[in-house]
Amino acid sequence: MKVLVVGSGGREHALVWKLGMSSSIERIYAAPGNAGTALEAKTVNVSIDPMDVDSLLLFADTEDIGLTVIGPEMPLVSGIVDKFQLSNRPCFGPTKNSAQLEGSKSFSKLFMERHDIPTAPFRIFNNSSEAIGYARTKKLPLVIKANGLAAGKGVIIAHTLHEAEETIHQILDEKRFGTAGDQVILEDFINGEEASFICIVSDDQILPLATSQDHKARNAGDTGPNTGGMGAYSPAPVITTTLFNRIMQDVIEPTVEGLAHEGISYKGFLYAGLMIDQYGQPHVLEYNCRAGDPETQPILLRLQSDLYELISSALAGELHKVSPKWDPRAALGVVMTAGGYPDRYKTGNVIEGLINIGGEDTQVFHAGTTNLGSNIVTNGGRVLCVTSLGRSVSDAQTTAYRYVNQIQWENAYFRPDIGYRAIAREANS
Ligand code: GLY
Repeated sequence: MKVLVVGSGGREHALVWKLGMSSSIERIYAAPGNAGTALEAKTVNVSIDPMDVDSLLLFADTEDIGLTVIGPEMPLVSGIVDKFQLSNRPCFGPTKNSAQLEGSKSFSKLFMERHDIPTAPFRIFNNSSEAIGYARTKKLPLVIKANGLAAGKGVIIAHTLHEAEETIHQILDEKRFGTAGDQVILEDFINGEEASFICIVSDDQILPLATSQDHKARNAGDTGPNTGGMGAYSPAPVITTTLFNRIMQDVIEPTVEGLAHEGISYKGFLYAGLMIDQYGQPHVLEYNCRAGDPETQPILLRLQSDLYELISSALAGELHKVSPKWDPRAALGVVMTAGGYPDRYKTGNVIEGLINIGGEDTQVFHAGTTNLGSNIVTNGGRVLCVTSLGRSVSDAQTTAYRYVNQIQWENAYFRPDIGYRAIAREANS
């Protein structure tokens, strides 16, 4: 079987790495991949943009690809799976219709309202004076979301009315996010602890993956600007067995039933970004129609089963026949970024210290990297995710930072405290 993995981030490197362990797979193509995927066994990078669906499909036909796995949301939201399906090429991910759960925040909020799925109270506006009028009646902070995909920058928490008004103007009138800002969603702010809940879904069948939690803020103590994710760990101790069952019952099952009720078929990763409030009640902050990045990296480091079998079972509607095994150890990934990320940053810096890192307890998953001559150089904001296993989150953290400290490039940056909440829970238990 030949497999094509679409995307170039740390999540895609982890998918390639794990799929490469399957005895059913003889060859993996990563489109476009990165310097890390190029190093993986059985894997070849192909220089095709994830949004160039026609070229991807032509490549899949020419190479007789048996399975295509889509990593990022953009191609999913724009309908790559529908095109592959029309050509009878197995492709793992939701169709355009079902990917609206991520692609349109107004769609997902109204979906949750229709199906009684817990989420913050909200209103949707396409007119700035009406939105500002509503904002003036609300308690602060107020959450302001652009409707469409905005590269992780479309959710703003306004702490003052002035900030709320400016943000609404920027999105609706000044088109700061282009057409992604055709509507704004104003939403009550919920206090609590965030958690990521990622499943594989095959219509009415659900396979929850190991629990995880990421850190979205750039700086220590969850401060600073929001990013795609600065680190993650699995399991997430905030998700106790009781809470796990509650999330399944209150969020995941009604989501899957709601999709079926609306005649929407869903096959792919489904990621609910949750806020757990002080009473232990989960609220859906957002859905993602793909696996999380960087959550996928620690989750797959703990997966002991064949990922290809899980994905092919989902595509065949036989997810109920598989039951994955997880390493009981914790895994923790520290994202190393270019200094300045998520704003302006430099690329092309030579990365030193990658040799002799990795092995049984640690994998360095690449994201924004590329080969330049005999060097591996930075090629994006998030550059690497150094991911380690340990008997506890605290042990995994110690190992991951030991390796992080061996890797250097000019102006490299990382948070020093990934996993701090979990480690505090471990210390208290
Ligand atoms: N880690 C957040 C995301 O994947 O969207």
